[in-house]
Amino acid sequence: MRLVIIPLCVIVLFSCAAAYDPLDPNGNITIKWDVMSWTPDGYVAVVTMSNFQMFRHIPNPGWTLGWSWAKKEVIWTMVGAQTTEQGDCSKFKGNVPHCCKKTPTVVDLLPGVPYNQQYSNCCKGGVVSAWGQDPSSAVSAFQVSVGQAGTSNKTVKLPKNFTLLAPGPGYTCVTWNVTCTYSQFLARKNPSCCVSLSSFYNETITPCPTCACGCQNKKNCVKSDSKYLKTAGAHTPRRDNDALLQCTHHMCPIRVHWHVKLNYKDYWRVKIAITNFNYRMNYTLWTLAVQHPNLNNITQVFSFDYRPILPYESINDTGMFYGMKFYNDLLMEAGPSGNVQSEVLLRKDQDTFTFKQGWAFPRKVYFNGEECMLPPPDTYPFLPNAAPVKLLNLPSLIFFLLLLLSV
Ligand SMILES: *[C@@H]1O[C@H](CO)[C@@H](O)[C@H](O)[C@H]1NC(C)=O
Ligand SMILES: *[C@@H]1O[C@H](CO)[C@@H](O)[C@H](O)[C@H]1NC(C)=O
Ligand SMILES: *[C@@H]1O[C@H](CO)[C@@H](O)[C@H](O)[C@H]1NC(C)=O
Ligand SMILES: *[C@@H]1O[C@H](CO)[C@@H](O)[C@H](O)[C@H]1NC(C)=O
Ligand SMILES: *[C@@H]1O[C@H](CO)[C@@H](O)[C@H](O)[C@H]1NC(C)=O
Ligand SMILES: *[C@@H]1O[C@H](CO)[C@@H](O)[C@H](O)[C@H]1NC(C)=O
Ligand SMILES: *[C@@H]1O[C@H](CO)[C@@H](O)[C@H](O)[C@H]1NC(C)=O
Ligand SMILES: *[C@@H]1O[C@H](CO)[C@@H](O)[C@H](O)[C@H]1NC(C)=O
Repeated sequence: MRLVIIPLCVIVLFSCAAAYDPLDPNGNITIKWDVMSWTPDGYVAVVTMSNFQMFRHIPNPGWTLGWSWAKKEVIWTMVGAQTTEQGDCSKFKGNVPHCCKKTPTVVDLLPGVPYNQQYSNCCKGGVVSAWGQDPSSAVSAFQVSVGQAGTSNKTVKLPKNFTLLAPGPGYTCVTWNVTCTYSQFLARKNPSCCVSLSSFYNETITPCPTCACGCQNKKNCVKSDSKYLKTAGAHTPRRDNDALLQCTHHMCPIRVHWHVKLNYKDYWRVKIAITNFNYRMNYTLWTLAVQHPNLNNITQVFSFDYRPILPYESINDTGMFYGMKFYNDLLMEAGPSGNVQSEVLLRKDQDTFTFKQGWAFPRKVYFNGEECMLPPPDTYPFLPNAAPVKLLNLPSLIFFLLLLLSV
């Protein structure tokens, strides 16, 4: 028998209260509660969490799953995960359950636990990849043996009121066809990344908006030359993931810079740089989702991996960049190594391509599934009026093609 609970994790946009993410309309986290076998007083179930979100992963320190038992159930044993508290098991003598709480809170085990405590897809410290990045590690599972439950598919009651922290708030789950919705509003008051822009055709660098990520913590930020950064433990991550930010006018932990670098006859080239301003955070498995109308003709991506994501079958304007394994899939803490960069070559669609009116800049940018704040459009670097955009001459085009072949 298979009881399937589908926490449909839709996403509410930061900018408007739409009930889903237009860049990932089918994104959800599905939790299946499969009853595998019956026991004298209950059943053994496998709980599988699949992250079908294309570009939002569950980063360190991982997920925390909670629920309320419908009756007087207890957890006899758990394999591949554990509850954070045992609760009051005083009425049990001899054989004591793993957890007697009415509302158990479950976390994943850390890597490296003994084999007999492992379950397939367990023990990753609750870290789950985004589906678009690595489907094989977008799943987390554990086994639970439930007692004082029904012992047939007629008498068993599914748990209620699922809650999912992944790792912070943001997901809301509703019971039975359990529906979790992710909302950046619930997760945090301010964005957690911003975008700056520049181009070869105008010297203006459009910075991130001032206080894009909220300036309330400005008094706790540190300058990049601060002596404090040299003290022991200054970079040690905190339990609550509290950031130690470098002082900037935007006060964001992450800045994404989009530079329109070159213009060729049939192609154009963009440089993308992601900078970490948090001294207490290495971002593993980072993702950058971008919406731009020319991504349907992306030709080559240097030093990042890329895959298109098709939020709607007919529109192919969104894609996901992520680090190459063992090369730049780790975005290091703030400092000299705290950035990753890529260049992207796009083929011009002669009907729509233009440098006018900021067309060459992205429409939406998400870092790790969080929407980044873009500068106001009237501050974008403008194409100087009437000045023709210089095309590359033939020799440099040949040089460029050679370069392309040699990479
Ligand atoms: C969850 O996502 C998967 C994969 O995108 C999809 O097949 C499934 O229908 C979604 N479930 C819900 C309830 O939206
Ligand atoms: C589930 O949550 C609702 C609303 O918060 C509450 O009224 C209900 O008692 C909860 N159910 C269980 C079984 O805890
Ligand atoms: C209950 O389980 C039995 C045997 O496993 C199966 O034949 C029956 O269809 C199930 N009933 C329901 C309501 O799922
Ligand atoms: C739950 O799902 C069933 C079938 O999947 C559907 O008929 C029902 O309306 C859903 N209930 C809620 C509250 O979404
Ligand atoms: C980031 O990773 C480097 C290299 O693995 C390590 O030395 C450093 O302590 C890490 N920083 C944080 C904040 O975890
Ligand atoms: C979307 O764009 C990518 C990259 O150019 C291409 O490989 C893919 O075939 C396109 N898909 C559709 C449905 O147009
Ligand atoms: C760009 O992509 C679209 C759809 O993916 C395709 O129809 C069009 O021919 C492409 N344009 C160029 C210049 O390759
Ligand atoms: C460059 O862009 C800025 C900001 O949009 C604009 O004010 C300025 O006039 C542009 N410079 C030129 C030479 O067009």
